[in-house]
Amino acid sequence: MISSDFLGKSFISVDQITSRVQLDSLFLLADAMGVGVDTHTTLQSLVGMTVAILFYQPSTRTFSSFEAAARRLGATVIAIHGMDHYSSVSKGETLDDTIRSIYQTTGADVIILRHPDNDSSEVAVRVSPVPIVNAGSGTKEHPTQALLDLYTIYTQMGRIDNLRMVMVGDLKYGRTIKSLTKLLVKVGKGNSFTFVSPKELSAPQELIAHLANNKAKVVERHAMGSSLQSADVVYMTRVQKEWFVAEGKLNEYEHLKNAFVLDSTLANQMPKKAIIMHPLPRVGEILHEVDTNPRAVYFKQMRSGLLMRMALLQAILKG
Ligand code: NCD
Repeated sequence: MISSDFLGKSFISVDQITSRVQLDSLFLLADAMGVGVDTHTTLQSLVGMTVAILFYQPSTRTFSSFEAAARRLGATVIAIHGMDHYSSVSKGETLDDTIRSIYQTTGADVIILRHPDNDSSEVAVRVSPVPIVNAGSGTKEHPTQALLDLYTIYTQMGRIDNLRMVMVGDLKYGRTIKSLTKLLVKVGKGNSFTFVSPKELSAPQELIAHLANNKAKVVERHAMGSSLQSADVVYMTRVQKEWFVAEGKLNEYEHLKNAFVLDSTLANQMPKKAIIMHPLPRVGEILHEVDTNPRAVYFKQMRSGLLMRMALLQAILKG
């Protein structure tokens, strides 16, 4: 199955995706949503439903695409950005009380949550009478980004199997690469991973072990070397300044922030059919000169975000 697997359920981790068939059903729904968007059609499937969007961390793409997705399906949207500054959280309210309150005050049918704590989605699920969607939790998970990343790979490469993935940048704090690689080993076959990062920003060993236990070939590198020449997908990420700030390590950030920068010369080493992805925002790790390279798909990737989030909201609220 099938998109009805998601009906009435929270979606807080890629671990909840259990089969390729489930993923294919979301891809099909996303394709259908694309037709609606292309023809400027507002679908009516969620009329009468309310989607609450609570963000405790900054966001451009995830916030706007969830809001647009809900509105394009006809739902009423209550979207609050800057929860950490502008809500009672600044008075000391706990996340569980906030979730209970938002349910009562808005009558939400689903709550989309982005929060700096790794376990925030689990906390929210425990008290929420309606499904929770994790729009980014701490340094741990970003499951809807993983879905849209995989949909991008599928639409651009025509497959999610036998891919040579090169993941570059902040693999310690970055949450997107963790969700994406875990999802890929679950639903894809024969994919291999080269992790390229400064030593200080290496991927957690539990992640490496998890991928290896799931039969994926994983290599760790601290230099690009020749990895780009045999890549199918190069997934660049930003060094996550906010976590250095939180840990009082701004000097270390300054030292590491430009460790890996993709320019045209490096991009042109990649096979012609390979693609360059980035969850964005970028802060220097992909030079603007790369934007016109035919391999660059990071702008198209954002459109996948709109379509996949429409598909997911539809699947959770209507099946
Ligand atoms: C990512 C995130 O929030 O983890 N952004 C996004 O949702 N597209 C990546 C990042 O902030 O670097």
